[in-house]
Amino acid sequence: MPDPQLVLAARVQAALSAAFGPSYADADPVIRPSQFADLQANVALPLAKKLGRKPREVAAEIVAALDVADVAANVEVSGPGFINLTLRDDWIAEQAQRVLADDRLAVPAAEAPQRVVVEYSSPNVAKEMHVGHLRTTIVGDAIARILEFLGHEVIRDNHVGDWGTPFGMLIEHLLDLGEDAAARDDSSVSDLTAFYQAARAKFDGDEAFADRSRQRVVALQAGDPETLRLWQLLVDASKRYFNSVYRRLGVTLTDDDIKGESFYNDLLAPTAQELEDKGIAVISDGALCAFPPGFTGREGEPLPVIIRKRDGGYNYSTSDLATVRYRVDTEHVDRMVYVVGAPQSLHFQMVFAVARMAGWLNDAVVAEHAEIGNVLGTDGKILRTRAGGTVKLIELLDEAVERAGVEFDKIQHEAELDEETRSAIVEAVGIGAVKYADLSVARDSEYIFDFDRMIAFRGNTGPYLQYAAARIRSIFRKGGLDPEQATGPIALGHPAERALALHLLGFGAVLEQAGATAEPHRLASYIFDLASAYTTFYENCPVLKAPDEETRASRLALCRATLRTLVTGLELLGVPTPERM
Ligand code: ARG
Repeated sequence: MPDPQLVLAARVQAALSAAFGPSYADADPVIRPSQFADLQANVALPLAKKLGRKPREVAAEIVAALDVADVAANVEVSGPGFINLTLRDDWIAEQAQRVLADDRLAVPAAEAPQRVVVEYSSPNVAKEMHVGHLRTTIVGDAIARILEFLGHEVIRDNHVGDWGTPFGMLIEHLLDLGEDAAARDDSSVSDLTAFYQAARAKFDGDEAFADRSRQRVVALQAGDPETLRLWQLLVDASKRYFNSVYRRLGVTLTDDDIKGESFYNDLLAPTAQELEDKGIAVISDGALCAFPPGFTGREGEPLPVIIRKRDGGYNYSTSDLATVRYRVDTEHVDRMVYVVGAPQSLHFQMVFAVARMAGWLNDAVVAEHAEIGNVLGTDGKILRTRAGGTVKLIELLDEAVERAGVEFDKIQHEAELDEETRSAIVEAVGIGAVKYADLSVARDSEYIFDFDRMIAFRGNTGPYLQYAAARIRSIFRKGGLDPEQATGPIALGHPAERALALHLLGFGAVLEQAGATAEPHRLASYIFDLASAYTTFYENCPVLKAPDEETRASRLALCRATLRTLVTGLELLGVPTPERM
């Protein structure tokens, strides 16, 4: 990998091992960006403490053993014992050239590819998807794309809520209405919401209906064919709706990725049995419960994970335990990433704890809850429509696109666009804006859904980055050049060229971190910083009108490397980049 931080880390480790013995060969060299050089290695400070020596002395010894002449132009001990490292311009240029020449932008594929389940979106059948589902859908899709690009085998998993008690009332309501109501092909969002609410109202207000609903749940769980057929009608109508949202968003989920709660129904009893056999679950007050250590209630009483209720029914937790077990035993995964709302944090902690007790999770198989923070309205409260209702996803996206159109018409365009081209671009800008806004914020923090901010063509926004890519493409068009032909060689003169080239070298390391932590916002900030470095370059370094042929060739190559990195990075975030804007 051309990342200077990694290259220098290896060199400093070699120096540590040479100067202090092989046991230091994989000590953390503590390489950080530096104010006074490109990077600094701070390892001398903790090491000196350990050895009981003066940090500057230790630093000097490391420097004496450091072999970096080919990479660094200057190495200097400063302050209390920092080692400042300034990279050679020709080394940076050479690495940037490697990035340019490589199909994968010099991003290495994982040395130990893993099989990873990325579970995301997971809306509920016969219910409106809300902005929370929107965010887990967008963030999860980016995580899946990033891990796949890094060479891992990704199993996308849409764990839809398609099972359980609500289906009793939904099916009875369906029968009352007549099947045509749900089988209709328009299955619009409002239909599903209205449908659910009407069923709920009857369930709460009509004892006979509630009774029928409860019996229907029993029939469903017992696998009664007619009940299953009705259930399937509801599921299919919902899938059509989910897919319409996914297609509009450009999300990679398909029907094949759906493994809803119903999928695990037959595994619930054996899962409960295994927990009981292993002595992990015990009968308490008639219910089968596990008590994972460390989880206590207000009074310090142990908190149960209820595996089987007194009435014999199973819980949401049981379903998730069966899911873990299935992923380990049948799918043989190495890692499971649950992209789910932060409010479910305790649920997952307890489920994972029980799964570890059962031996399904261990050092070789990890499960992590990639928490998604709440999405709030500009008033800081849960997002609502002006009328106070739940926000409908498709209407939200329509509004984003409409507003994107208004902003788009204000910017300067390369050329007149026909209406068809314009509306395709505006769609990409509106959807891209919504997606990027979700992705640019740390996924576990709350975030304010604010159209004005996300659709601005300035700042850390989707439209700004899409525009940056389009502007680079327009340079090539203006010059009558094919970007593929911009092969350099890259030579660095102006500081803005150097800064841009240096930034290009960090793509692989950022992707690796984003994948390891399941945090796409790291990639988003990298792309934003890249676009900013490019803007400084563009303002200072004429490209088509460069002073001489060599400079022009080098700058065109930098443009192309930047363009490819921007486009690839945005694609991994699931944000489209229109050819022109
Ligand atoms: N359907 C659930 C909801 O909408 C999310 C499911 C999360 N995944 C899981 N394995 N429990 O809240």
